[in-house]
Amino acid sequence: MIGKNILIGVTGGIAAYKVVEVASRLKKSGANVKVMMTKHATEFVSPRTFQEITNNAVSVEMFADAANFNVAHISLANFADLIVIAPATANFLAKMAHGIADDLLTTTILAYDKKVLICPSMNTKMYENPATQANLSILKARGVEILEPNAGNLACGTSGKGRLPEPEEICAAIGNLFNSARILSGKKIIVTAGGTLEAIDPVRYIGNRSSGKMGFEIAKSAIKAGAEVILIAGNSNLEPPNGLKEFIKVESALEMRENVLKHFETANCVIMSAAVADYRIKNPAAQKIKKDSEVLTLELVKNPDILRELGTLKKSQILVGFAAETQNVLEYARKKLVEKNLEFIVANDVTLEGAGFGVSTNIASIIWRDEQVENFSKMSKADLAEKIIERVAHLLSKDKKFFPLTVNQ
Ligand code: CTP
Repeated sequence: MIGKNILIGVTGGIAAYKVVEVASRLKKSGANVKVMMTKHATEFVSPRTFQEITNNAVSVEMFADAANFNVAHISLANFADLIVIAPATANFLAKMAHGIADDLLTTTILAYDKKVLICPSMNTKMYENPATQANLSILKARGVEILEPNAGNLACGTSGKGRLPEPEEICAAIGNLFNSARILSGKKIIVTAGGTLEAIDPVRYIGNRSSGKMGFEIAKSAIKAGAEVILIAGNSNLEPPNGLKEFIKVESALEMRENVLKHFETANCVIMSAAVADYRIKNPAAQKIKKDSEVLTLELVKNPDILRELGTLKKSQILVGFAAETQNVLEYARKKLVEKNLEFIVANDVTLEGAGFGVSTNIASIIWRDEQVENFSKMSKADLAEKIIERVAHLLSKDKKFFPLTVNQ
C-alpha cells in the first residue's frame, strides 16, 4: 500500500487495542497512516501509542491547536484516500447514519466524500439490535463498505457475533479496496447503452427517452477496472470514454443484437443497460411518408429480446440486466432476472425524482438470484456504475475475493 494515505478512526470499544496492530501493519506496507480517536477511545488506548507507531500526531480534539488553526476535520478529510473506522461502536454507527457531527471523528466523516470502510465491533445484542441493523442498512445503501464482525468470545464475557476481525483480515479488506482499481484486468466486458431507434421511414423513427448516461458510466468504470470494454450504443449524444477496445454505434434493436452476438462468445460479461425497443415497424417505408391520409396506422412487430437470447446461449458469461419500471419494481425486476437467466438485475423506479432518464443520479436496487436485495439510496450514476462493476468483478474472481464484502453468493 505504498504511498496510500489512510486515516484510521478509532472509537471507544475494547477492540481498539487490535487497531494498534492494524496501524502498524499498514505503516510497514508503505502507507501514510494518520489516526483520529474519540475521547472514549483514549480510555482504551493512549494516543501516544498510535503516535509512536504512525509517526504522525494523533487527533482527538476538534479545537486542540487554536494557535495553528487549519480546520482539522477538513485537512484530515483532504489527506485521506480511505477512512477506516475500527472499531466502530453502535453509537458511532448511529451518528454516522444520521449525519451527527459532534466531535472531530464524526465531523471529519461528514466532510469526506471518498471510500469509507467500517469495522463494527460490539456486544452481540447491541449488534443485532434492530436500531444498529437499521443504521448499518442506511450506511450500506450509501455505499459505505462494511467489514462484518466475526463470531466468537467477546470481552463482555458472552459469545456471539460482534468481535472485531483480526488485524490481518482488516488489512486484507483495505488491500482489496485499493486493488479494486484493476479488478477486471484480462476480462472482456460488453456494455450496451442508450435507446434503440426503429425506423418508420428514412426520416422518422420510434425512439425512447434513454440518454445512455448509465451505460457510458458503466463502460468508464469497467475501463478503469482494467477490462477490455466493447461499448455498443444506440441513440446517445455522449462522447465515448477514452480507453474503449471498441465503440460500436447502432441504431435499431436488430443491429444491437447482431453486434452483441458477434462478441458474446469471447466475452466474460454482458451488461445490458440499453433501452431496447420492444417493437419495430413491420415494413419501414423506403421513401418519406407523405401526409396524404387523415389517419396513419403503423404496424409493429416484436423485436427479439437480446438479453433473453443471451440467457439461453450463455456458458460461463455473467449477465447483468436493467429493469426500468414505473410500478411493482421489485416484482417485475425479479421476474426478468429469472426469465432472462441473469446473475443480477439493477432495478429502478423511473418515476422517482433523481432516478431514470436524462438525470445524472439514480436510485437503484440490485437483486440477486438468491433473492437478496441491495437497496441503494440516491447516488450518482458514476457511483452506481462502480458498484455494478465491483459486483461483476466479485462474480468473475475465482475465489470471490472482491467486494461486496457483505453479499453472500
Ligand atoms: N432487453 C433486451 N432486449 C429487448 C428488451 C430488453 O435485451 N428487446 C434488456 C434490457 O436491456 C434490460 C432488460 O432486458 O437489461 C429488461 O428490459 P426492460 O425493457 O425493462 O424489460 P422487457 O423485458 O422489455 O419487458 P417490459 O418492456 O415488458 O417491461
